[in-house]
Amino acid sequence: MTFRQLAESRYSVRSYSSVKPERELINDILETGRLAPTARNNQPQKIYVLESEDALRKIRDITPCAFNAPVVLMVCGKSELAWKNQFSGKNMMPMDIGIVTTHMMLRAAELGLGSCWVGYFDPDAASRAFALPDDVEPLCLLPLGYPAEDSVPSERHADRKPLSETVEFL
Ligand SMILES: Cc1cc2nc3c(=O)[nH]c(=O)nc-3n(C[C@H](O)[C@H](O)[C@H](O)COP(=O)(O)O)c2cc1C
Repeated sequence: MTFRQLAESRYSVRSYSSVKPERELINDILETGRLAPTARNNQPQKIYVLESEDALRKIRDITPCAFNAPVVLMVCGKSELAWKNQFSGKNMMPMDIGIVTTHMMLRAAELGLGSCWVGYFDPDAASRAFALPDDVEPLCLLPLGYPAEDSVPSERHADRKPLSETVEFL
């Protein structure tokens, strides 16, 4: 499969089989996240693999968007570690985390696993539930698992704006 075919075939999976993905696949996904570029190579990510019954119950109590995935990656960042753009004053941590998460999402798809990028949760509730250190900020969740047999892309999956709306050649 080419990268273009992978990008075309991936979709957000919101219904999972109860079969737990093999540890090697999870490790491979994490390793692919490790390869992601980050600003100044500062690598401000911290990723929690939620796989125990207790951890999955906690995350499902916080958001309906953990779905029934047998594994959920809670992708966090440490702002203090990240590069700050001195012109805009902006901290690049959220951008770094976005790239790390994208690497993992696409590698999961390449390995035949489903995932769904999730922003719909209260980060403070997650920090409390998992007793995260003060310098660790949860940014997004990535439920992972084999798609359920009846899993299909959402109706809006293929709904993309034309390039004429989002691109301008100067
Ligand atoms: C930053 C971000 C946050 C998202 N948050 C959620 C979410 O909380 N719940 C959810 O079901 N999907 C979430 N999604 C998935 C998007 O809704 C989905 O990617 C988009 O509708 C396109 O569909 P597709 O992924 O099937 O192509 C999120 C995606 C991104 C990139």
